[in-house]
Amino acid sequence: MASLSFITKIVTTTLVLLLIGLLNIEVTLVSADNQEWYYDWNVTFQYTAPLGVSKQIIVINDEFPGPLLNASTNDVVNINIHNNLDEPFLMTWNGIQMKRNSWQDGVQETNCPISPGHTWTYSFQLKDQIGSYFYFPSLQFHKAAGGYGPIRIQNDELVPVPFPQADFDYDILIGDWYNANYRTLRNALDNGMELPLPDGVLINGLGPNQASMDFEPGATYRLRISNVGLRTTLNFRIQEHLLLLVETEGTYTMKQYYDSLDVHVGQSYSVLVTANNTGDVSFYMLATSRFTPMPLVGSVFIRYSGFQGMPILPPNSGLDLYDYRYSLDQALSIRMDLSVGAARPNPQGSFHYGTIRINRLMTLRNDVAFINGRLRHTVNSVSFVHPDTPLLLADYYKLPDEFQTESIHDTPDEIFPRMGVSVINATYHDFVHVVLQNPLIDIQSWHSDGNNFFVVGMGTLPWTVRNMGSYNMYDAIYRSTVQVYPTSWTAIMIKLDNEGMWNFRSQNAERWYLGQELYIRVRGEGKDDLKNISPYDQAPIPANVLKCGRAASL
Ligand SMILES: *[C@@H]1O[C@H](CO)[C@@H](O)[C@H](O)[C@H]1NC(C)=O
Ligand SMILES: *[C@@H]1O[C@H](CO)[C@@H](O)[C@H](O)[C@H]1NC(C)=O
Ligand SMILES: *[C@@H]1O[C@H](CO)[C@@H](O)[C@H](O)[C@H]1NC(C)=O
Ligand SMILES: *[C@@H]1O[C@H](CO)[C@@H](O)[C@H](O)[C@H]1NC(C)=O
Repeated sequence: MASLSFITKIVTTTLVLLLIGLLNIEVTLVSADNQEWYYDWNVTFQYTAPLGVSKQIIVINDEFPGPLLNASTNDVVNINIHNNLDEPFLMTWNGIQMKRNSWQDGVQETNCPISPGHTWTYSFQLKDQIGSYFYFPSLQFHKAAGGYGPIRIQNDELVPVPFPQADFDYDILIGDWYNANYRTLRNALDNGMELPLPDGVLINGLGPNQASMDFEPGATYRLRISNVGLRTTLNFRIQEHLLLLVETEGTYTMKQYYDSLDVHVGQSYSVLVTANNTGDVSFYMLATSRFTPMPLVGSVFIRYSGFQGMPILPPNSGLDLYDYRYSLDQALSIRMDLSVGAARPNPQGSFHYGTIRINRLMTLRNDVAFINGRLRHTVNSVSFVHPDTPLLLADYYKLPDEFQTESIHDTPDEIFPRMGVSVINATYHDFVHVVLQNPLIDIQSWHSDGNNFFVVGMGTLPWTVRNMGSYNMYDAIYRSTVQVYPTSWTAIMIKLDNEGMWNFRSQNAERWYLGQELYIRVRGEGKDDLKNISPYDQAPIPANVLKCGRAASL
């Protein structure tokens, strides 16, 4: 069962990582098609030293990365989380679109935290989706302590996967890493400091050259790669092997070969790799930082025939660190395969997004500012401040003053930067055109919970309506996380087909922590009362809902 046991750890550090799956899965049928899955996860601290410096990390059932969450389209997933940390905790499901159920999203404004020593059960039905994703802790800067793990959503039996089944199917979680304790990093941010460069890059929780993977000559490997790090774009490659891109966060892509792939923070890809060598050879699998003053390198040895010798080629990416053009051209080359089914049997191209009337244009501009003497990150001049009570509960109990949907405007205003509870009021089924604008000189990564989007265009600022002429309104990729290059824009189109209170955030953990986020409240016309809402609109408040803030006694 272990998701990561294909990687053999070859350097022993102070902690022996358990690579045996400890998850208990029990299966019962809820209908002919949908299965129900049960997971039991114990969240605890441990110490490990992937970069040679001992650090307190978050493990799940003693595993780092955590166990695989594996289910199929429309399945129901139940996960008991036992919080054995000394701080409040929540897990969130990156890219998972729980059907009409933001009560299970596990971010600060949808859920009260699970208190230390307590257990809470997430329970949600997956939407019509397939693909490769990951989960991670969402509060208190816990992500800097790990606590993440892979998610796979398999095709329904009736929908063929549009490529031959690989001989091996592996999850590869890559991410930057700090040797400092997450509390130290959090304190630095609380005190108005910026984080320094990370100390290195981990692949499946292990530092450079600490692990190896055997390649069988002639075999094919599906690698499900996610960037689970805090802030750094990583270039993924395997020396002398091409990557055949097949899936991007749940969308099957036109099959194209790449030497290497830029994986921005929070993004996921599936590639097929054929082991086309033989004999006594070894290579590096590399995850190398992009857009950093110096390269940070994560690596795993790829070994043919159990060959123990070192790779001949040096472990560098061969790329110019600041080659934005390469990265942008690659992003624009990734296209949806219109002819194949994914979550449903009908082809992905049968949803003609290019012909849908756009209801609303929003321009979201990220920036940095000093507010009350503190460094903050803003969206349209507003830096998100967490209210007393999670927004979803405030909405349910109609708590006055908790938020106003006018707090953030659809276009950047010239009003001075300010703190605010940014909620965008949107109508179910709206088709919204969002232009993400990045005036800064570093790269951004944006993520939408609950509703994916089509990435229709990218370019350099300024953006004008004339840029719409260059949009891809035909076979753009449909995903949940997208980058915005420095002094550039990225245009996305979102069909709001999932009602709820959904987080829209920077995937850069530092910017997210310092206010670069907002919520999109998606409601049907006249469906304003969550207490009397039909389950066909939104899932009812969970029986086990946690209450906090001003909702604590309600
Ligand atoms: C979780 O792990 C802790 C520490 O190992 C242990 O004390 C506790 O009993 C475990 N809880 C569950 C529910 O397994
Ligand atoms: C994941 O689920 C699929 C479909 O139920 C199953 O075929 C596969 O073996 C599972 N994979 C793992 C690693 O558990
Ligand atoms: C394997 O494929 C790669 C990429 O096409 C190529 O560079 C390499 O030479 C091939 N190796 C062998 C032994 O054929
Ligand atoms: C938000 O949208 C809903 C549904 O469209 C509408 O009924 C409500 O009046 C709006 N609220 C605000 C504060 O704009």
